[in-house]
Order: sequence, then C-alpha cells, then structure tokens
Amino acid sequence: MVARELVTDRGTLRWLEAGEGRPLVLLHAFPLSGAMWLPQLERPPHGWRLVAPDLRGFRRPDAPPADAPPTPWTMEDYAADVEALVAALGARDVALGGLSMGGYVAMALLRRGRVRPAALLLADTRAEADTEEARAGRRRLQGVAEREGSPGVAREMLPKLLGETTRARRPEIVAGVRTLIEANAPAALRAALEAMMGRPDSTDVLRRLDVPALIVVGEEDTVTPPETAERLSRAVPDSRLVTVGGAGHLSNLENPEAFGAALEEFLVGCLA
Ligand code: MLT
Repeated sequence: MVARELVTDRGTLRWLEAGEGRPLVLLHAFPLSGAMWLPQLERPPHGWRLVAPDLRGFRRPDAPPADAPPTPWTMEDYAADVEALVAALGARDVALGGLSMGGYVAMALLRRGRVRPAALLLADTRAEADTEEARAGRRRLQGVAEREGSPGVAREMLPKLLGETTRARRPEIVAGVRTLIEANAPAALRAALEAMMGRPDSTDVLRRLDVPALIVVGEEDTVTPPETAERLSRAVPDSRLVTVGGAGHLSNLENPEAFGAALEEFLVGCLA
C-alpha cells in the first residue's frame, strides 16, 4: 500500500492506493478519511487498483494538515475534486464506490456526468436528501464541532456509526474509528455537514444508471438502515443487495470479511 499526493489547481489531493489493474475509487464516510478503507486496501481484489482519497479537508492520522474547504462547500465540490483525481489516474473504466457520505459524493459525480463509472458500489448510504429533522441535527453537530472540536464529534458519532455488536465486543475498532475522527480539523467537519445538508435527492439519476451496482448495508446500521438500502436497490436497475451481518453503519470496517467477499464477487463479475 502506498500514500500518494498530487498538487492540482484545486489544492492538494491525498490518497492511499493498493493493488494493480482497473481503478476502484473508494470514497469515505463522515467524519473519517480514506484510512477507513484500510481493511480493503490490505487485501486488494485481484485485477483491481484500490484508490482511497481523503475528501477535501479530511486528514488521515499520519498525514500533514489538509487544506480546509472554502465556504460554502457542496457535494458537487467534493465531486469536482474526485474528477481531478480520476483525471490524474489517467485510467479509463474507473469503478466508483462510496460509503455513506462517500455514497453522496458518488451520486454527485453521477449527477455531474463527467466521470461515467463502469461499476458502482454504494454502501450504507441513501439516495434521498436530508429531512428538516436531519438538517437540524447537522446544525447541532456543527455547534459541537465549533465548541469541542473533533473529540466532541467523535463522542456524538461513534454510537451512530458502529453497530451494537462492534460496540459490545470490538473495543479495538471503536478506538480505531475514534482516532480517525479525531485526526480531522473542526472546519472540515463543519463544511462536510453543510455539504450534506444541501445535497439534492439522487433517485432519478440512480434510476437511469446503466452499469452494475452493488448495494451493501450493515444489518445493525441505524443511520441508513436495511430498509433504506432496499429502497436504494429498488431504484437502481442492475443492482444486487448484500446485508452484512454483525455490522452497523461502517460495514466495511466492522465485518471486513463479509464486506470483502461481497465486493470481490461483484468485482470479478465486472472484469468478466
Ligand atoms: C456518514 O457516515 O457519512 C454520515 O453518517 C452520513 C450522514 O450523516 O448522512
């Protein structure tokens, strides 16, 4: 696995990558970083180059401070950064994957239409825009970020991100996710909350999707629960839905074996 960076006219892009072959760009959840994909980067599927960027402002614990996003900041802005990364990879036939907020960025890429992925992974995410209640919750969390920084955001988010099984039995995962959250600057977290609040519904663009899609959800996910994933799967014409046992919202981290098996099977089918 290697850490790479590239200075573009949009700022410095940083990402982790592993494996060789067709690129699969993996977009991370809020409030983490590309490092949440480490279980997948440690075992890249044969024939695939996994590329896991830190979205604008987010920072891996071992990386230098990140450029803060200007305000206002939107999902489309994150998507434009990913377009610059895809151009820098110089590869055709890129596949795209996103978990939760990463899925929102992937949907923004689909809406923009400049990157046309050959396959799509959507994990623990939703097509719908925020409700008023969700927006109020995000404004409240912006206040926590402002007053208490990323440790306050970690305290609020950990019980939502991780499933009951992980919280009860896997303290090392709880500690690892806390470290990832606390590496981030409050300004990046506030900007991401703003971007999530403003995102539109993506159901129409997903209905028109004409490439294979894998939808994954942790069976204990309470942020984007299994019924949300079922709705997503009904919207995407050529999709397969996989439920990951013993995992909450961060299904790739909480049960990497089951997540990896589903992803591998999907990707093998995409190369065939
Ligand atoms: C995430 O995991 O990216 C966030 O929980 C998504 C959200 O709050 O909508």
